[in-house]
Amino acid sequence: MSMAQTAVQIENLVFGYKPEQPVLNISDLSINRGARVFIHGPSGSGKTTLLGLLAGVLAADNGRLEILGHNLAAMSGGKKDTFRGSHMGYIFQMFNLIPYLNVRENIVLPCRINRARHDRLQGRNVNEAAAELAEHLGIASFLEKDVTELSVGQQQRVAAARALIGGPEIIIADEPTSALDTDHRRGFLKLLFESCEQNNATLLFVSHDRGLAELFHRSIALHEINRVAQ
Ligand SMILES: Nc1ncnc2c1ncn2[C@@H]1O[C@H](COP(=O)(O)OP(=O)(O)O)[C@@H](O)[C@H]1O
Ligand SMILES: [Mg+2]
Repeated sequence: MSMAQTAVQIENLVFGYKPEQPVLNISDLSINRGARVFIHGPSGSGKTTLLGLLAGVLAADNGRLEILGHNLAAMSGGKKDTFRGSHMGYIFQMFNLIPYLNVRENIVLPCRINRARHDRLQGRNVNEAAAELAEHLGIASFLEKDVTELSVGQQQRVAAARALIGGPEIIIADEPTSALDTDHRRGFLKLLFESCEQNNATLLFVSHDRGLAELFHRSIALHEINRVAQ
């Protein structure tokens, strides 16, 4: 398989927050581009840590990690930041919206910070792109509102729009549905899947709620592939 078809390639990846205490040790993991992948495991099994490694926020102690065919460990800090901004959208568990920016300003942020994300709009105005995503996610009427006025479900949609704008190849989501009830959870996932499919984005979705697994192409039990016993 060519690199272009591989979103994530891991070989013998080892990471610990302290050198003598490994948290993750994964021998092999390969994720195809365009796949919708569910990653689950009990609390403390290393799900957020794995996402941090994939995003290049954490650096592995050992092994290989390639994202879209690129070795993050070989990049300088600045280059890694640019790579992340260009190719990845991240939906955090607590959303991490910027409280002093309104909904629209939060959504367009990645395109303001990162040139590649802006250029992938192909001449479309960033505000138009934000409005289109907001429309699809059902938050169009909130665009000029303060994010602090929104419900949890609405904030989550803003976080999703911010991750999706400028069509990054990889969307990483860390338990984004944990604060939602079952109906809203399914509705949100449907919208997220549609948006990812439109961009042929790879979705790496972490949750401890195994009931969601059936909605994905592939399910990975992190505690089963992680050789470190928690
Ligand atoms: N910043 C950190 N410093 C030290 N240990 C951490 C840190 N973050 C997480 N850990 C530890 O790493 C392990 C995996 O945590 P985490 O990746 O957050 O798990 P999960 O997301 O699956 O709940 C846990 O034992 C946790 O205590
Ligand atoms: Mg976590």
